[in-house]
Amino acid sequence: MDIELFTAGILKQIAPPSKMSSALFDLSVGAPDEDSLPNEALLNALQETLYHDPVNSLIYAGTSGYIDLRSWIATTHASTGNNFNSDNVSLVSGSAHGLDNIARTFLEPNDFVLMSSPTYPGAIRTFQSCGAKIVDIPSDQFGIDLNHLEDLLSDYNHKNKKIKILYVVSSYNNPSGMSINNNQKKSLVKLCEKYSVLIVDDRAYSMITFERNPDPSLSTICPSENIIEVGTFSKTIATGIRVAWIMASKSIINNLNLMRFDNGGSSLMQRMVFSFVNSSHYPKHLASVNQIYKRKRNIVSDALTKYCSDHVEFHIPQGGFYHWVKIKNGLKNSKLAENALKQGVGINVGNIYFVNREDTEHVRIVYSKLKESDLVDAVKILSTCFKN
Ligand SMILES: Cc1ncc(COP(=O)(O)O)c(C=O)c1O
Repeated sequence: MDIELFTAGILKQIAPPSKMSSALFDLSVGAPDEDSLPNEALLNALQETLYHDPVNSLIYAGTSGYIDLRSWIATTHASTGNNFNSDNVSLVSGSAHGLDNIARTFLEPNDFVLMSSPTYPGAIRTFQSCGAKIVDIPSDQFGIDLNHLEDLLSDYNHKNKKIKILYVVSSYNNPSGMSINNNQKKSLVKLCEKYSVLIVDDRAYSMITFERNPDPSLSTICPSENIIEVGTFSKTIATGIRVAWIMASKSIINNLNLMRFDNGGSSLMQRMVFSFVNSSHYPKHLASVNQIYKRKRNIVSDALTKYCSDHVEFHIPQGGFYHWVKIKNGLKNSKLAENALKQGVGINVGNIYFVNREDTEHVRIVYSKLKESDLVDAVKILSTCFKN
């Protein structure tokens, strides 16, 4: 049987999922520092969970998930302007699942989705899988191109083309590290309200911050019924636990729950995470990982300046896991990535962070995962790879 004849046509139009890297020096996978994974604290939390509440930990969690964790998220992550509680939060299996739930609920084939670009490729794939048409909204280190956004919203409105969603990673974007500045955040929310567009604010990196005051969410700057926030414990705790959330108005959450077919997330993991985040360990853990990432960010910024400044330019990210590096001398990013891989260094080309996949001059360098002692060696090797 030819299985290709059975697969949905849409499969041929979406990019494959990203792979784990086999490179000796992996600067390509956006994952946490492995030495800082809180395995002992999680083991204690897991034991406590199973000991104190074995039955509830081992039965279905219900669609929205464990209420205590939902309340904790509403209390610690919702903007004060919103007055959210546990009913405004739905727990999902990773924010990737959250995006999938949002896409299935709101998108129909040929709807338009605007994405601030460069952007997270997983979100591009997810929206495309629902048959949506994606339009890039250019952004740089100063923010999103609001004039372009406004022109587009007005133009599509005149032509009766339905834009359903604007997707942004408003703080410490993957891959650019950029945060939308606060003035822009307000204008952006107002524009989307004017044209009845839902905003998906992906907060995956909001807690990985090197600033004294973490970058605020769109809804902190300008609360709005139109905003759906997606958050995750993948970057602050561990990717493998698959505990994340969607936070929005009750009517949005109710509709999202109708489009869930997974019987809810893991009761056990949600309770384990609650036990950990609700303990005194969690603030210390957060402070410690942020120190680690800041140190690693500095190591890579310094090494890029010292060894690669003839070849590249970049801005120093204020949070998140990534340097977004522009190649100066005309060498194509694919060639640099190929040369680097031959020398054992894995980096990602910029193309995959745009819908049109035409970027040839950027690469993304991940500083979060590799050991500190290997980061300088990896950048030194990279500095030898800028040849055709
Ligand atoms: C911006 C962004 N959103 C969402 C995700 C998905 O994370 P998870 O599904 O592990 O929560 C990622 C992962 O890299 C990401 O970079």
